[in-house]
Amino acid sequence: MSVTVYVPREATALSLGAQAVARALADEAARRGDALQIVRTGSRGLFWLEPLIEVQTRAGRVGYGPVRASDVPGLFAAGFLTGGQHALSLGPVESIAYLKNQERLTCGRLGVIDPLSLDDYLAHGGYQGLKAALPMQPGAIVQAVTDSGLRGRGGAAFPTGIKWKTVQDAPGTQKYIVCNADEGDSGTFSDRLLMEGDPFCLIEGMTIAGVAVGATRGYIYLRCEYPHAHDCMRAAIASAYARGYLGADVLGSGRAFELQLRLGAGAYICGEETSLLESLEGRRGQIRFKPPLPALKGLFGCPTVVNNVISFASVPIILQRGAKYYRDYGMGRSRGSLPIQLAGNIARGGLVERAFGVTLRELLYDYGGGTRSGRPIRAVQVGGPLGAYWPQSKFDTPLDYEAFAAGGGMLGHGGIVVFDDTVDMAAQARYAMEFCAIESCGKCTPCRIGSTRGVEVIDRLVAGDRAAMQHTVLRDLCDTMLNGSLCALGGLTPYPVLSALDYFPEDFSKQVALVAAQR
Ligand SMILES: Cc1cc2nc3c(=O)[nH]c(=O)nc-3n(C[C@H](O)[C@H](O)[C@H](O)COP(=O)(O)O)c2cc1C
Ligand code: SF4
Repeated sequence: MSVTVYVPREATALSLGAQAVARALADEAARRGDALQIVRTGSRGLFWLEPLIEVQTRAGRVGYGPVRASDVPGLFAAGFLTGGQHALSLGPVESIAYLKNQERLTCGRLGVIDPLSLDDYLAHGGYQGLKAALPMQPGAIVQAVTDSGLRGRGGAAFPTGIKWKTVQDAPGTQKYIVCNADEGDSGTFSDRLLMEGDPFCLIEGMTIAGVAVGATRGYIYLRCEYPHAHDCMRAAIASAYARGYLGADVLGSGRAFELQLRLGAGAYICGEETSLLESLEGRRGQIRFKPPLPALKGLFGCPTVVNNVISFASVPIILQRGAKYYRDYGMGRSRGSLPIQLAGNIARGGLVERAFGVTLRELLYDYGGGTRSGRPIRAVQVGGPLGAYWPQSKFDTPLDYEAFAAGGGMLGHGGIVVFDDTVDMAAQARYAMEFCAIESCGKCTPCRIGSTRGVEVIDRLVAGDRAAMQHTVLRDLCDTMLNGSLCALGGLTPYPVLSALDYFPEDFSKQVALVAAQR
C-alpha cells in the first residue's frame, strides 16, 4: 500500500532545501521498493521547522523537521513511513503547540492541501462560501460581509462591507475587483503563504466580491518577487476556468467573473491602492489624488473594489459559516482573526493566526520563543516599515486596531519584526527616512525632499553636530511630513523616527537623552 508524504513547495521551504528533500525521498523509496506518494503542499508557517515533512499514518499526519536531504535514509531506517521515532520527530503535526494554539479561520488549509488541486480544495470545504453566496441577493452578501466586522487586512483597516456597498451602489456598467498582492511591508508574508498554499481561497473570495458588487472582471496585482506565488495562482486560475468556477457563467449561475494576473515591477509605493491602479493601467506607479475614491472611480475610471489578499481570503468562511461565526472572534471593533507574521530576530518565526486580542507579549514569547540570538528583546516594529518601534513596556498591548492607534502604533498587515539589545535605534530611524527617500513616488514635497533632509539631519544629530538644534529640526520635519504628505508613505514615516527618538533617545546622543529625560 502506498504511503502519502507531504512536502512543502512554498518559497521558504524551497529555500531551505525542500526540493532536494522531495527528490531524496523519491530516490530512497525507489531504492528500497517502498510505494510512496509525494504530495506537494504549501507551508504551515512554522518556518524554523522547514522543510517540515508530514507522513499520513493511521493516527493522522505525523511531522518531521527540519529535514535535510541527507536525513532521508535515516528517516526510512527509523520507519518514518509508519510514524517511527527519529531525532527529527515532531509527533502529530496538529498537536504542535505553536499550531494547536492558533485560530486558523483564514489560513486553515495552509500546508494541509495540495494547492494546485481543485479537488483537494473542494474536499476541505472549498467553494462552500461561493455556493452559499450565489443564490443570495447581492445586497445580502454585502450585508453579511458588513455584519462580520471584517476590516481590510492590507493596512488601513477600512470596513470591507462598506467599501463593497459603495461599489455596489455606484453607477456604472463595468466594475472591477482588484486584489492587492503587492505585499511590500517588511516582515510580512501572509499574502504569499496564502497564494502559495491555498490559491483557490483567494479566487473564491474575489469571485464572491464580483457577484456581490456586480463586477465581471478582476485582477490580481502581484509583486514580481513572488515567482512561486505567480506559478501557483496561474495554475489555480486555469483550473478554476476549466471547471467553470471562473468565466462567463460561474457554476451555471448566469454571472460572469473573469480573472487575470498582473505582475508589478516591485516598488513599495505600488502597494498603495491608487498607485497600484496607475501601474495596472500601464503607467508609472504614482499616487492619485483622493477623492475620487477608487470605489467610485478606480481602474480605467470605473467603480473598483481594491482589497488585500487576506481580506478576500477571509470572505469565503464568512459566507460559509455566517457573519456571526466570524464576528464572534476578536475584540472591540477588531473582529475575526489576523494572520500575524513573526519575523526578524525571533527563535520561532512564522505565521500565527489568532483572533484579535492576543497580546504582543504572548506572540513574542509564547509563540516566538524570544530572540533567535538568545539576547533580550529590545524593540519590535509592528505594521511594516512605517510602523512605530515599541519597547518592552508596550508588549502587553492587545492586537486590536484601536489599542495600537491609541498607543501611537499601527497593526498594518500584521507583520512583527523583532530586534534584540544590540540594535542601534538611531540607525533604524535613519533607515526609515532613507527607505522613504528611495521609495517616494515624488509627487509631494514633504515626502520627496523631507525624507532626504531627514537622513541628513539624523546623520548630523548622531555625529553630535549641534545636536539639540538637529533634534528640534528633526521633530519639526516629522511634523511637516505627518501633516503635509499626500499619502501614508510620507505621512507615516515619522512614526518609526519619532518612536525611536521617544523610546530610545540614548541611541541618538547624550543631548537627546537629556531632553527626553526632561519631557
Ligand atoms: C505606501 C503604501 C503601501 C501599501 N502597500 C500595500 C500592500 O503592499 N498591500 C496591501 O494590501 N495594501 C497596501 N497598502 C494599503 C492600500 O493602499 C489599500 O488600503 C489596501 O489595498 C486596501 O485593501 P484592504 O481594505 O483589504 O486592506 C499600502 C498603502 C500605502 C500608503
Ligand atoms: S507622500 Fe511620498 S509617496 Fe506619497 S504622494 Fe507624496 S511623494 Fe508620493
